[in-house]
Amino acid sequence: MIKLTINGQPRQFDVPGDMPLLWLLRDEAHMTGTKFGCGMALCGACTVHVDGEATRSCVLPVSAVAGKQITTIEGVAATPAGKAAQVAWLKAEVVQCGYCQSGQIMSAAALLAKNNKPTDAEIDDAMSGNICRCGTYSRIRAAIKDAGATLKGA
Ligand code: FES
Ligand code: FES
Repeated sequence: MIKLTINGQPRQFDVPGDMPLLWLLRDEAHMTGTKFGCGMALCGACTVHVDGEATRSCVLPVSAVAGKQITTIEGVAATPAGKAAQVAWLKAEVVQCGYCQSGQIMSAAALLAKNNKPTDAEIDDAMSGNICRCGTYSRIRAAIKDAGATLKGA
């Protein structure tokens, strides 16, 4: 039995310890906002927060997150950085097909929670593991800066 907290709710699941967290979220918790892309920690589509850190859930066994706080795209708006990111994403009309975007927002929110005035280099560093086949990178960068300005003024 694995016990963990998802978006502030204590949960427990009777699953094998080597099940990837992404499978638990999508198939057991029925939270499908977190996406499967590559399954090899290469694309970032599956990014969630584990104790506030942006983490690839496709390669993370649930045994490694027992007792930890998991935040997904379904719950990130409850955090100031997540809310600011989502508002800025809409304002900048970042999304094209959308497949990568929950992972993008989760990485951006983790960055913004620590640094509300990231430089281009800091954004590139934090976002480098999140691939977008639609090429929305320049709008993502603008949205992160806009969200940071919102957080600074809060
Ligand atoms: S699905 Fe996890 S990094 Fe691609
Ligand atoms: S918006 Fe289509 S892959 Fe990023």
